[in-house]
Amino acid sequence: MHHTRNSFSSKIGFVLAAAGSAVGLGNIWRFPYLAAKYGGGIFLLVYLILVVSFGFSLMVAEIAIGRKTGLSAVGAFRALDKRFSFLGYLTSIVPMIIFPYYCVIGGWVAKYLAVYLTGQGAQAVEDTFFKGFISQPVEPVLWLCVFVGVTAVIVFFGVQKGIEKASRVMMPVLVVLSVLVSLYSVTRPGALEGIKYYLIPDFSRFSPLTVLAAMGQMFYSMSLAMGIMVTYGSYMKKDSDLEKAVSQIELFDTGMAFIAGLMIIPAVFAHSDGDATALNAGASLMFVTLPKVFADAGALGYAFGAVFFLLVLFAALTSSVSLMETVVSILQDKFHWNRKRTCLLVLIACLIIALPSSLGWGVWSGVVLLGRNFQDFFDFISNSVLMPIVAFITCLFVGYVMGTKTVAEEVRISSKFRRERLFTVMIKFVAPVCIVLILVSSLLDALHIITI
Ligand code: PHE
Repeated sequence: MHHTRNSFSSKIGFVLAAAGSAVGLGNIWRFPYLAAKYGGGIFLLVYLILVVSFGFSLMVAEIAIGRKTGLSAVGAFRALDKRFSFLGYLTSIVPMIIFPYYCVIGGWVAKYLAVYLTGQGAQAVEDTFFKGFISQPVEPVLWLCVFVGVTAVIVFFGVQKGIEKASRVMMPVLVVLSVLVSLYSVTRPGALEGIKYYLIPDFSRFSPLTVLAAMGQMFYSMSLAMGIMVTYGSYMKKDSDLEKAVSQIELFDTGMAFIAGLMIIPAVFAHSDGDATALNAGASLMFVTLPKVFADAGALGYAFGAVFFLLVLFAALTSSVSLMETVVSILQDKFHWNRKRTCLLVLIACLIIALPSSLGWGVWSGVVLLGRNFQDFFDFISNSVLMPIVAFITCLFVGYVMGTKTVAEEVRISSKFRRERLFTVMIKFVAPVCIVLILVSSLLDALHIITI
């Protein structure tokens, strides 16, 4: 039995959905604090170079593999070479691990939006508010259910009616809202120092760690090495210009990260009287520091708080949709189940797996794996260990087994391959070496030998 495969209805539909996957929590809270920590302008510069070389090449490879085979990761690698079936399985594990805990954070964002919408923004200013909320056994789980539920509904409606439609609405709104919030931020009293800090490169702050941090961020932010782009590529039409689509996705993703920096760095700077270390708060930057920044401006600030969390919610939703779609698509390709049944199954599995991540902040905080609670443990295994391994094997596979020529042929079906030489050199030589460096450094980081 052979179904015709779903596809995006238009070029822009594909770009918006893939950009929706790429633009997420990584852009909005992770990028700004990394940029602040690693020298502001210099980090931006390094990041940009990596995106258009290394990120470009890997994304082209993944989308081309998907479009060529018309299959999601497991089937795609098997179809190209039987010996590499294992790579398909390995790739699929990544979204299966990330999806549940990503939804836990999505649930937190939904809760914060509700807090601001119901006029309780003042409460979020208390230092204990965030910790108090996430350590409860029931409430975060309810918000998790809400977030996963919405994701599942979008995925259930399928590629065109669900994902494409949702992205077409959410992505433009996201851009408009983030421009609004960044205008609010850069006009805070004292924000100018922050803008300077963010934009003017300070070369004395350059170090190899800058490159490593930028590289790790690029992977995560562009949703690479987790089968997402393979899956979305399999829904791409043969006549859509693949290379141009990748450039547009990159522009979107990097542009949004840049604007997020403008939203967050100047405002936090102004709030903390120019103390850059205030940016270094990790997850709590978004949930603890920003509410204080919003409160500085009273009612107007609370309104911007609501807008901000709505924007973050949209960004998180389009990313979680891509994660769930990837898992659903892999299962459907493999077992030929119908969509409804697959979605339901993935939904239930996600809730069960997400439960320890959520409870790990409270009642189960005593359970420690490799020095981490459940959520940080899952994050570490997927982002720091599995993703570099998958990316490394993918590069070797594309470079030396499948052949960069095969990818180039696929790209040429829809357009000239303008950056073919760059692509070939990156995939065969530069990327594998860089990826090994990322893997080693993140392991050293985990063992507290260095800090990234
Ligand atoms: N790229 C997303 C971001 O920047 C993160 C993400 C990771 C999305 C994994 C989907 C899957 O936040």
